[in-house]
Amino acid sequence: MSAGFAGRVAVVTGAAGDIARLAAQRLAAEGATVWAVDLAFAEPSEEAVGAGRIIRRRLDVTDSAAVAELFAEVARTTGPATLLLNAAGGPGSRRAPVEEIGDEDWHRVVALNLDAVFYCVREATRWIKDAGLQGSFVIISSGAGRTSSRTGVQAYGAAKAGAIGLTRQLAREVGKHGIRVNCIAPGLVEVEGIRAEIESIPPAAMEQHLSNVALGRLGRPADLTGPILFFLGEDAAFVTGQTISVDGGSIMLG
Ligand SMILES: NC(=O)c1ccc[n+]([C@@H]2O[C@H](COP(=O)([O-])OP(=O)(O)OC[C@H]3O[C@@H](n4cnc5c(N)ncnc54)[C@H](O)[C@@H]3O)[C@@H](O)[C@H]2O)c1
Repeated sequence: MSAGFAGRVAVVTGAAGDIARLAAQRLAAEGATVWAVDLAFAEPSEEAVGAGRIIRRRLDVTDSAAVAELFAEVARTTGPATLLLNAAGGPGSRRAPVEEIGDEDWHRVVALNLDAVFYCVREATRWIKDAGLQGSFVIISSGAGRTSSRTGVQAYGAAKAGAIGLTRQLAREVGKHGIRVNCIAPGLVEVEGIRAEIESIPPAAMEQHLSNVALGRLGRPADLTGPILFFLGEDAAFVTGQTISVDGGSIMLG
């Protein structure tokens, strides 16, 4: 059965990161036009990939006006995005006791991991409804949003839990318009962006972490690709409002 990506238009945020980059490539390979956006992309570029293509743009997803402009450009140029992967995110580097966290530290992390998701789903929904199309969104949360985590970043845990709440609430609201919203909560994944952080984990702490992972290893970026494409595609046509942990069997919920 085809997952139905041929001819579809997708927006993928955080697309310079390993997890989103692989998903963007697979979507394009299966025929989608993928708008890959990231703060780290210096120059606009475009590339044919398989049956589809990837259009790269620099975008700060925490800038709501810039997000609105991007979705308008997408609609004007290729037709509205009906697939959305919200992967831009991260805990930032500031770990400190809660009484030492300043307002700025808190707001910066929440802006990236929750506000930005809201900006993107709002614009995507607006254009899909206006065009009378159907859509599918995937939000990348974290194990930190389902339970407490070793990152120890309070705002990150709060924002990632908020992303799960937004998934549920939005799924209920937009289901009648043919839009599905699902969420993925990765465990610790070896991406280039946090390589130094992973290498700094003391061996005993890593051993303890892995002892809690049923499959006994860290995640790889490619481990996320299948679950992301499942939720985005037609195989999940009757699935919405769900959060799945992709963590090797670390968090097991009933
Ligand atoms: N790697 C892990 O262990 C892990 C675990 C749980 C959840 N996650 C989540 O997975 C998602 C993907 O992260 P990753 O692991 O691939 O890390 P990553 O750091 O490689 O990717 C995140 C990307 O987001 C981009 N970004 C940051 N701020 C941005 C902004 N304001 N506007 C646009 N883009 C911005 C970065 O440039 C980067 O390319 C994130 O939401 C992260 O929180 C990762």
